Amino acid sequence: MFGKRHVLSMRDFSREEIDSVLDLAESLEPYARGGRCDALSGKILALLFFEPSTRTRLSFETAMMRLGGKTLNLGPAEGSAIAKGESLADTIRVIGAYADALVIRHPKEGSARLASQFSPVPVLNAGDGAGHHPTQTLLDLYTIRKESSLEDLKIALVGDLKYGRTVHSLAYALALYGAEITLVSPPSLEMPAPIKADLAGKGTRVRETHDLDSVIRDVDVLYVTRIQRERFPDPYEYTKVAKSYRIGPESLAGVQEGLIIMHPLPRVEEIAPEVDDTRHALYFKQSFYGVPVRMALLKMLIGDRLD
Ligand code: CP
Repeated sequence: MFGKRHVLSMRDFSREEIDSVLDLAESLEPYARGGRCDALSGKILALLFFEPSTRTRLSFETAMMRLGGKTLNLGPAEGSAIAKGESLADTIRVIGAYADALVIRHPKEGSARLASQFSPVPVLNAGDGAGHHPTQTLLDLYTIRKESSLEDLKIALVGDLKYGRTVHSLAYALALYGAEITLVSPPSLEMPAPIKADLAGKGTRVRETHDLDSVIRDVDVLYVTRIQRERFPDPYEYTKVAKSYRIGPESLAGVQEGLIIMHPLPRVEEIAPEVDDTRHALYFKQSFYGVPVRMALLKMLIGDRLD
């Protein structure tokens, strides 16, 4: 059903396909915690990260190692032939002949799709500028399914909704599950109009506000994102909105008993460390769930068997 394919955007996935990834991740979770599994023995995953990453890069690497496979790491662009002027297309053609799949993170939107046009093996988009981050969304959905519920979900997406690729991808997937979405951002960082139009076209219930306090007590999931300094063309514009939202213990008065707070991480100041010890804080567990979910994806994409 899933087949050999590229993983570029959540728009390319059906709900059934997502559910099949999450189901397999559930069965692989014991191996993500250290059990023995050789499903990808002899397989190689290439990691091409042209932007910084901790979780995505290392959880893909962990996933591959937990499945008995190996990784190739291009390393910083300065240490590769890209520094001599080699194009992304040529780099992909070459590495695609060494590895069974490629993971790429790149500052330019559309770069993963471009890479897929030159790659003989599956390409997984690990974040393309302000575009999409589909494997993050799969682990986000896995977290919600395990720790809350994807049924009748009420979720607030908070922070940088303009440049935030995690929330762009997540919004498309949530639409498939009939979630009620509240968009909370500063006026200058609202969700792009084409995405809102797509959500409306799918009949998704979406409301928009700049006031987090007006929604925090109504939702099951609070999905918080960082205001991303590196995406702002003008640093002054960043300083104007950098401290727009900060969730501290005092913000949680009156919230639902089962509220979960998620964050793709890294965080800067938007969630106070004092929140980490509350029952609502799920973001570190969420980052661990990247391992079983990426194991599932890799097994489906490059494994020889599906059992
Ligand atoms: N969530 C996420 O993409 O984190 P990294 O930037 O550390 O990979």
